[in-house]
Amino acid sequence: MDLTLKVWRQKNATAAGGFQTYPAKNILPDMSLLEMLDVVNEELIARGEDPIAFDSDCREGICGTCSLVINGIPHGGQKGTTACQLHLRHFRDGDTITIEPWRARAFPVIRDLVVDRTALDRIIQAGGFISASTGGVPDANAIPVPKHDADRAMDAAQCIGCGACVAACKNASAMLFVAAKVSHLGLLPQGKVEKDRRVANMVKAMDAGGFGNCTVTGSCEAVCPKEISLHFIARMNREYALALLKGS
Ligand code: SF4
Ligand code: FES
Repeated sequence: MDLTLKVWRQKNATAAGGFQTYPAKNILPDMSLLEMLDVVNEELIARGEDPIAFDSDCREGICGTCSLVINGIPHGGQKGTTACQLHLRHFRDGDTITIEPWRARAFPVIRDLVVDRTALDRIIQAGGFISASTGGVPDANAIPVPKHDADRAMDAAQCIGCGACVAACKNASAMLFVAAKVSHLGLLPQGKVEKDRRVANMVKAMDAGGFGNCTVTGSCEAVCPKEISLHFIARMNREYALALLKGS
């Protein structure tokens, strides 16, 4: 495949950025989008130019670092797919692909396609730790957990903290991310002990992090590569209201 890339280039957090056009020639359809960027970068380096900076780690949809807006959609718009899992067979030969970083006040651009997502880390830190001792591995089944709760906790725990939900939201709200984190612990017996303090502190850290409010447009759910449901936001709102009533 021969493709044309329009890529956001920005030297640092304070420099003005802009799109630059690069050809991507003889690309295999079974390559991932990141592998294509690797090929383009090798050509840039061979020409003595600066390679395109972008984040990646696992390249298999687990770590959540590949924060790219592809053709205007965080992670590129394939259902349940991260940018690193997006293969070029979903594009046509001759296509132009636009690649940008996440756009949100809470995620300042560090360089090119790399953004600073430590605001999400601060929310996680605000959640604190679980004080209930879970014992050793053989004790795992000692505390019965209703199947429905276990399933929902596992659904929420799939969140990989990528931040696509924030990037897709017109308000740059982090509610889907926070709701997933609050729920995956709050649904399990061991996590219930600190649930009021956890939700109150995480929401406070979310507000301090510069994220906007949720107006339930659903764009977060639509782009989430782990298909986290909006229902978790409703669940978090209930948990938060209860925590405030109890004085947390
Ligand atoms: S809720 Fe989905 S989109 Fe948001 S951080 Fe988690 S995995 Fe990424
Ligand atoms: S690089 Fe890990 S999820 Fe994409």
